[in-house]
Amino acid sequence: MTTPAMPFEARADALLAELAKSGQLKSLQMIEGPMGPRVHLREYGDVLCFCSNNYLGLANHPDVVEAGIAGLREFGAGTASVRFICGTFTPHEMLEATLAEFLGVEAAYTFVSCWNATEAALPTLAEPTDAIVSDELNHACIIDSMRLATSIKKGVKKFIYKNNDLANMESKLREAAGSIGADGQVWVITDGVFSMEGSLADLPAMRKLCDQHGAMLVVDDSHGTGVLGKTGRGTHEHHNMAGAEIDLFTGTLGKALGGGAGGYIAGRRNAIEVIIQRARPTLFSNALPVTVACSANKAVRILMEEPERVDKLRENVKYAREGVTKAGFEVIDSPTAICPIIVGDTAKAISMSKRLLELGVYVIGFGYPVVPEGTARLRVQISAAHERAHLDELVDALKKL
Ligand SMILES: Cc1ncc(COP(=O)(O)O)c(C=O)c1O
Repeated sequence: MTTPAMPFEARADALLAELAKSGQLKSLQMIEGPMGPRVHLREYGDVLCFCSNNYLGLANHPDVVEAGIAGLREFGAGTASVRFICGTFTPHEMLEATLAEFLGVEAAYTFVSCWNATEAALPTLAEPTDAIVSDELNHACIIDSMRLATSIKKGVKKFIYKNNDLANMESKLREAAGSIGADGQVWVITDGVFSMEGSLADLPAMRKLCDQHGAMLVVDDSHGTGVLGKTGRGTHEHHNMAGAEIDLFTGTLGKALGGGAGGYIAGRRNAIEVIIQRARPTLFSNALPVTVACSANKAVRILMEEPERVDKLRENVKYAREGVTKAGFEVIDSPTAICPIIVGDTAKAISMSKRLLELGVYVIGFGYPVVPEGTARLRVQISAAHERAHLDELVDALKKL
């Protein structure tokens, strides 16, 4: 008997050949050492890193590393279970209390990633009589979470509004409120900081509109937490809002909060309780590794004790944005640590990023399918771990492009 051909083989080869031909094939850089303002790449040696989410420089902070080692020694490597069976350890409880305290909300619950947390949130909390209203530029995990919610809970309706367009949001909100069933709930979900633009959601205006229509406001503040606001609480603090004014946060532990991994949902206690009882990622997927929970807990405590880290980040962001703009590049104006330089073509973004690496500066070019076709960009990310001299080197390298 002859073995039938596998159509996938030809499909995969054709895709990879096409990506290589058009200059869009991504190559993964191997980092040989810890994450910091400089990293050691196998192919390029020591380079300045301007593409990590290590916004506060906590990824390799000695106390964060030590907390992880102590956790590993005390609790071992594996949780060996999902949370509701025997996978909940005291460091989970400690981290969740710390996160709730930090954000000023009733409760928090952790996951192995923010992707996982977001996939738990909407499909669990929305019911078939509900509607979800979402910004068109929301992160991919929100988009997929909505797809999952509408397919698992048949009847959930979704409404997408133009990025940061409050008039369009209000009109979609009205439509959504008119579409729900008798006990239906409207959910409005937005990124706090849009990850490819570095722009901010207008949370006070959104809160007002949500209150007018009885809608719950959910904010993914993965790029705002630890970065924005006087004490780094996030986008809401930047807008002088208390944490409790946001019904639910989703967030990551893999960016400013230690640069490890993990995610969380935080906010109203009853929503967290429903997530614990019903969310499929909590019922069917292992707990966050304890060593990561210990490191993340230490990172959040350091941030609470040393808010000057956020001041340093803010100063670096201002200095870098001014330097990049003076060098003749157009950067969307905002106080965030994400400074995207739009170059248009994906292949161009990738080749500019390669040239920067040759100049000792690590900045990634983002193109389709991460951003829409024709809007490829170099995304420069600033950290509190950078010194002025690093930021000057970045600008000099950009000038050489
Ligand atoms: C806005 C936003 N939400 C969620 C995520 C996913 O976070 P995690 O890596 O914890 O899954 C990211 C990461 O890129 C993000 O930028």
